[in-house]
Amino acid sequence: MSTARRCAVVTGGARGIGEAITRELLARGTDVVVADWNATAIDEFRPPADQDGGRVTLVRADVSQEADWFRVLEVARSTYGPVTVLVNNAAISPKRDGRRTPTSEMSLDEWHSVLAVNLTGAFLGSKLVHADMSAAGWGRIVNISSQAARTGARVAGVHYGATKAALLGLTRTLAFEYGPDGITVNAVTPGRIMTPMAAGVADEVNQAMQRDIPVGRLGTPEDTAAVVGFLVSDQAGFVNGATVDANGGSWMG
Ligand SMILES: NC(=O)c1ccc[n+]([C@@H]2O[C@H](COP(=O)([O-])OP(=O)(O)OC[C@H]3O[C@@H](n4cnc5c(N)ncnc54)[C@H](O)[C@@H]3O)[C@@H](O)[C@H]2O)c1
Repeated sequence: MSTARRCAVVTGGARGIGEAITRELLARGTDVVVADWNATAIDEFRPPADQDGGRVTLVRADVSQEADWFRVLEVARSTYGPVTVLVNNAAISPKRDGRRTPTSEMSLDEWHSVLAVNLTGAFLGSKLVHADMSAAGWGRIVNISSQAARTGARVAGVHYGATKAALLGLTRTLAFEYGPDGITVNAVTPGRIMTPMAAGVADEVNQAMQRDIPVGRLGTPEDTAAVVGFLVSDQAGFVNGATVDANGGSWMG
């Protein structure tokens, strides 16, 4: 299931699930531009030693800002060539003392900030890579949604749950629109995955979630990255508009 030498953009790719996706694509020989707003995560990212893998460039950028997207894509094109793989992974899930903000107390600013990153970011990226992908007659877009899109968010706030469900609508609509150009658009809905985002809540919350997972463990970032690796491969060309539930069996559609 190789992915030929191609250029990918992975948002939020310096940490957590995004970092594992970056490493998965590099191992498959894909060149990767990481767009992440966390300067510390960028500084701490250590490229793999594998000489046969892809090359990586990390750019500090906020995916909710169109100007930042222009900068990221300029770096990608001038360094590696046209962008034919996009993974919209960056997201935020604001908490107060490890708990969701009650909807009745949520400010409009907090609501807008989550929509801007989790949903508008994916819209902007998907819009701006279309020219490269359609010119190549080949493209792969993967949107990292969440099990919260299926079940409602149990730990995160209403903004997070709403954006993750909206990403599934964005995925299916783009799958119709971009499919004729040779571009597939799919979503992954991870269950509970141990990352800095998931560590933002009390241990008891994660322990309770683990009890509900038939495979008996929380997920790892690599569990999600492996699904993305398949979806961006040549072999996945007939998978389009799909949502892949990767949650250890805690939700089965
Ligand atoms: N961890 C889980 O249990 C879980 C479950 C389901 C879905 N997800 C989804 O997986 C994805 C990754 O989650 P994670 O747990 O690795 O989160 P994380 O917080 O550990 O990492 C997110 C990364 O995105 C970056 N980021 C955030 N906002 C950004 C912005 N505006 N511009 C650029 N980069 C930005 C962060 O700097 C960070 O590197 C998210 O879409 C999340 O909703 C996570």
